[in-house]
Amino acid sequence: MGVNLSGKSLLKLLDFSPAEIRYLLDLAKNFKDLKRAGVPHRHLAGKNIVLLFEKTSTRTRCAFEVAGMDLGMGVTYLDPGSSQMGKKESIPDTARVLGRMFDGIEYRGFSQQLVEELAAYAGVPVWNGLTDQFHPTQMLADLLTIEEKLGKLKGVRFTFLGDARNNVANSLMVACAKMGLHFTACAPAALFPDPQLVETCKGIAAETGGSISLTSDLKAGVAGADVLYTDIWVSMGEPDSVWEQRIQLLSPYQVNAAAMAMAAPGAIFMHCLPSFHDLKTTIGQQIYEKFGISEMEVTDQVFESPASVVFDEAENRMHTIKAVLYATLK
Ligand code: CP
Ligand code: NVA
Repeated sequence: MGVNLSGKSLLKLLDFSPAEIRYLLDLAKNFKDLKRAGVPHRHLAGKNIVLLFEKTSTRTRCAFEVAGMDLGMGVTYLDPGSSQMGKKESIPDTARVLGRMFDGIEYRGFSQQLVEELAAYAGVPVWNGLTDQFHPTQMLADLLTIEEKLGKLKGVRFTFLGDARNNVANSLMVACAKMGLHFTACAPAALFPDPQLVETCKGIAAETGGSISLTSDLKAGVAGADVLYTDIWVSMGEPDSVWEQRIQLLSPYQVNAAAMAMAAPGAIFMHCLPSFHDLKTTIGQQIYEKFGISEMEVTDQVFESPASVVFDEAENRMHTIKAVLYATLK
């Protein structure tokens, strides 16, 4: 059966079949080739999209802007400081106004419920650019990067180390289940993902040949893994007061040379970014002054090593988001 995503929103990967994800990855590869060859692809000229950000961003915002402009579209960026969103106008009202003017809406914000509500009211495709629960566009870039680097998705042994209940970890578990990877969350039990989501993903994995496991044992979690993936220990929207406990809980799960040595030969290191791997950031410096640590979820050595594919991953945000825009708006 052919895949048709025209008019569909991307709110979470759970709403997409493996065939639809496959279609988006193949489309992204095509767009990447066109971009590299300098072949124009302004297929959506005359359309306009709006990007709503209630949290900060570098990659997601720029990926949507460049992808939209490469496709020939007008792109408008709005943040809470420069719009009525949230403070003076509800999400349903904002959605109905923007849906009259734009062909599609990107939204980065807090609860997943908000982006679902936006989609219910907008009348045009809505793309989730990160909520507290999910980060689906990041997943497409991650899957494309794994396939480029390891030559396959099915059967890849994938380990996430860190806050395994956060948006990126939740989404990775879903993405791995959908595409038949073996997903392991390696984290303290207090930071394991929601049991209901784990059960859902186990059900999906049973059909795709993948698997889902949770462990607090670093060696068991990392041994033989093809991919070690981590994310910042405190996510946007969480209070600064959680840093101390998070550092305590997650320091044993840092991706360092010892962890990489336990992984499979040729294993790659991935991170959605931004990352605290040195003291060149304000928060990194503040944490150093308060807790005396100069690296957090990954050491600078691993981050800068040949195993690290983080900048390919970042570039792939743009190619995959372009695929989503094209597939849903064409
Ligand atoms: N990975 C990611 O979403 O990065 P930004 O927060 O910079 O968009
Ligand atoms: N878990 C992180 C991801 C950033 C891309 C956050 O939500 O801040």
